[in-house]
Amino acid sequence: NEDIFKKLIAHSKEYGFIFPSSEIYDGLGAVYDYGQMGAELKNNIKRYWWDAMVRLNENIVGIDSAIFMHPRIWEASGHVGAFNDPLIDNKDSKKRYRADVLVEDHIAKIEEKIEKEVEKARKRFGESFDEAQFRTTNPRVLENTQKIEEIRHKLADVMNANDLEAFRQLIIDLDIVCPISGSRNWTDVRQFNLMFSTQMGSVSEDANVIYLRPETAQGIFVNYLNVQKTGRMKLPFGIAQIGKAFRNEIVARQFIFRMREFEQMEMQFFIRPGSEMQWYEHWKQFRLKWHKALGLGDRKYRFHDHDKLAHYANAAADIEFEFPFGFKELEGIHSRTDFDLSSHEKFSGKKLRYFDPETNESYVPYVVETSIGVDRMVLAVLSTAYEEEKITKEDGSVDERVVMRIPPALAPIKMAVMPLIKKDGLPEKAREIMNELKFDFMCQYDEKDSIGKRYRRQDAIGTPFCVTIDHQTLEDNMVTIRYRDTMEQERVPISSLRGIMEEKVSM
Ligand code: GAP
Repeated sequence: NEDIFKKLIAHSKEYGFIFPSSEIYDGLGAVYDYGQMGAELKNNIKRYWWDAMVRLNENIVGIDSAIFMHPRIWEASGHVGAFNDPLIDNKDSKKRYRADVLVEDHIAKIEEKIEKEVEKARKRFGESFDEAQFRTTNPRVLENTQKIEEIRHKLADVMNANDLEAFRQLIIDLDIVCPISGSRNWTDVRQFNLMFSTQMGSVSEDANVIYLRPETAQGIFVNYLNVQKTGRMKLPFGIAQIGKAFRNEIVARQFIFRMREFEQMEMQFFIRPGSEMQWYEHWKQFRLKWHKALGLGDRKYRFHDHDKLAHYANAAADIEFEFPFGFKELEGIHSRTDFDLSSHEKFSGKKLRYFDPETNESYVPYVVETSIGVDRMVLAVLSTAYEEEKITKEDGSVDERVVMRIPPALAPIKMAVMPLIKKDGLPEKAREIMNELKFDFMCQYDEKDSIGKRYRRQDAIGTPFCVTIDHQTLEDNMVTIRYRDTMEQERVPISSLRGIMEEKVSM
């Protein structure tokens, strides 16, 4: 899997999906640029989300708030005080780590030991191997499973209590060594705020520190009353937005999984207090359904209910996705109570109440939020789509292709239009087809190299349909359509192309 992941990163660059930022200056940590294919894919994902959330839900509206916001917003939201990562330095290597990640990595190593044990037994017992029984009875596996549970508990305890000395002690007790130097010479653990800051106004003026938003949600909260009033919204209703967020992540790894500049798609659903558990369940199920409808595979998703809650939540769950490096958070669903709106009332001194015409009461609404990273969604799609396929040809020889099985609705290019050769009026006919379809679908014209090479190029960027124009086309207005997934080809009338596309690639 690690190997495939490396290949995917290389492939993403080679075919214009994702480039390291500032590459000619040797890159910038955990920042990436989307290329010509990546930008299309990302836009399609955002549209797929916006349509499902805003267009199809009559009680959800979308906004686009500014990245810069009043600095006091981040005090009210709790980010100035509580949006921290615990850091620890190794005195010998001078390397800095996230203390919780060091512990998580330690747990991962024990998990690896368990898996090795299971694999060994599977090989030994073959067909008759009962994995579940083995996991619950083998003494070595049991011992390690228990160890993991204990460490997890301790980790949750020190994090909840924010006990930095106990955190350091945990790292020492577990005998964790620096991955670079192998040394156990650790500094104290200290808190590090994840927000980026800058100044607004010129230096000579009384410059104000402002933050780059670490989540888009606060732009929604501070506009809650504007939208409610101007849109004449009645509870329950939602406000959605898509936009950039910034976090000074210390552990920057796993490609676009954890970035310092990323994009979120968030929706805050404003509800009557007391109805939060019902809406929390509703949105968990709704969002899972949205994911599954894409067809990446139902088994790739699971819920992870949180025991340890963020400062704003009274219930929280992640939708986890099976990335090449295991199940990891893709989306969060949080019941945020009235934490944010009440806090903004206190800090701003402005009332953020809702007058409920049904009960004749004024109150601060509760909120259930759904929050997903666009980039993580891109990674989910790309990593599932990537396949190295062996093809046995008619003469028995074996060929290989890399095919990106991106869901057609999200594919950057929907159709490639190719004249068989560059003369005899075929390019002109191909252009005619392009001009007819490009108003509604993202098409690409390609006349360079052999048809076989062109097919491979389109496979590599995930184009679901290729259409070839040959001499016969000039006579009967039929083209060859070739399907990405099956590589099957058939002759169809030009007039049927629009229908085929509408059926397969429309969202
Ligand atoms: N408003 C709630 C909120 O921001 P979060 O769990 O911190 O909650 C929500 O973030 C989602 O944003 C995550 O599920 C993930 O998909 C995405 N996300 C968070 N940090 C990220 C990062 N450093 N890089 C890429 N995506 C990130």
